[in-house]
Amino acid sequence: MSERGARVAVRGDLLDFTGAPAWGETDSAAVRFRPDHWLLIEDGRIAGAQTEAPSEGWLRHDHAGRLILPGFIDTHVHSPQLDVIASYGTELLDWLTTHTFPAEARHADIAHTEATASCFLDALLAHGTTAAVVFPTVHKASVNALFAAAETRGMRVIAGKVLMDRNAPENLRDDVVTGGHDMEELIARWHGRARLAYAVTVRFAATSSPEQLALAGHLCAADPSLYMQTHVAENRAEVRWIKELFPAARSYLDVYADAGLLNGKSVFAHGIWLDDTDRAALAAAGAQIAHSPSSNLFLGSGLFGWRAAEQAGVNVSLASDVGGGTSLSMLRNMADAYKIQALAGERLTAWKALHAATRGAAHALGLGDEIGSLAVGSMADVCIWDRAAGPVAARRDVLARTLHEQVFAWMTLADERNLVAAYVAGESRYARVLSS
Ligand code: GUN
Ligand code: ZN
Repeated sequence: MSERGARVAVRGDLLDFTGAPAWGETDSAAVRFRPDHWLLIEDGRIAGAQTEAPSEGWLRHDHAGRLILPGFIDTHVHSPQLDVIASYGTELLDWLTTHTFPAEARHADIAHTEATASCFLDALLAHGTTAAVVFPTVHKASVNALFAAAETRGMRVIAGKVLMDRNAPENLRDDVVTGGHDMEELIARWHGRARLAYAVTVRFAATSSPEQLALAGHLCAADPSLYMQTHVAENRAEVRWIKELFPAARSYLDVYADAGLLNGKSVFAHGIWLDDTDRAALAAAGAQIAHSPSSNLFLGSGLFGWRAAEQAGVNVSLASDVGGGTSLSMLRNMADAYKIQALAGERLTAWKALHAATRGAAHALGLGDEIGSLAVGSMADVCIWDRAAGPVAARRDVLARTLHEQVFAWMTLADERNLVAAYVAGESRYARVLSS
């Protein structure tokens, strides 16, 4: 169903943020809840919101009683790893060699990588995620396929060719020269086209030589509009290995900082095993941590210190990290994030979690005017959600006494089955087949 050029109005309970909710605050002025409003979408952007029904000229979709939120932003996810989601029995380093590298090697096949890219983006949309920061593979074709599929769908996608010139299987290794040429070509083709942006993509410090890290750093310095994405301090054995590989570095994060890879456009996945100095450096740079709760639990990596990051002023966004993560659903990941904080003796509010997957992620990416909110002028990346899927959630929903209680129960119990529709730039990109 194409609605290009149409003026579309969607009725429901609008929920987004006008600021960052404080830690532990269940009653927050940053929450904007507008029950029973019509959200107006014109030329792919949000044009307004009102309580009265819009006039005849608007194509109306009445979802009264349902929640309408900005599409979720997944700030760290691997497109080729759909094929290894839920793989048994390993921690990070074994998981990479046993499950992940073989799946990524299959992306040398262009037909396979193109089919995977489409499947992956459609799966994101079917989980209510309309924007993402993505790792494809080392293969140039995997990046071309992902960006082309994202452009077709009008999605905001940030991605780049994975750099890996050591400590990886032969069929997944590049080198400083070919990696550099591939990046140049991909940046020229995709960076700034449609809603796409290039991220210099260092898999992690263990799989790039110091020379390749330096090349990546030079590229970021030469063009500050480029993003940078990598993994940091995820797993204890990994941290020990990095110490062996870079004995002169003060910390794992400093390996990246020394190479010029720590800046306001850097997205660092995980950041579990950091210290105060690292957190201060992340905050000073305006970099972000893509907290990946279901992955951290599934791979047994550790409990992320969200509050310490918050207190240090570090931007924290939320990510699925599929296939280390066990669901593309940002709601499932929020529920896991709450449990991680509970194990650490902390409480994560629904506001903090939802903000990290919408406005917070958008701002940390420098895209606050485009995505992550229902503000007038934002791109109309919007999802419509059922409040409950099934009798247990429905019963819990009606018993909730406050908005936070209700939304927290929703966040904890909901998943992709609750998704009714997803719009990207005002276009319908997902519609549940069996609507109730
Ligand atoms: N560290 C290096 N590569 C990966 C990856 O693919 N997934 C996760 N979770 N951590 C990594
Ligand atoms: Zn990852």
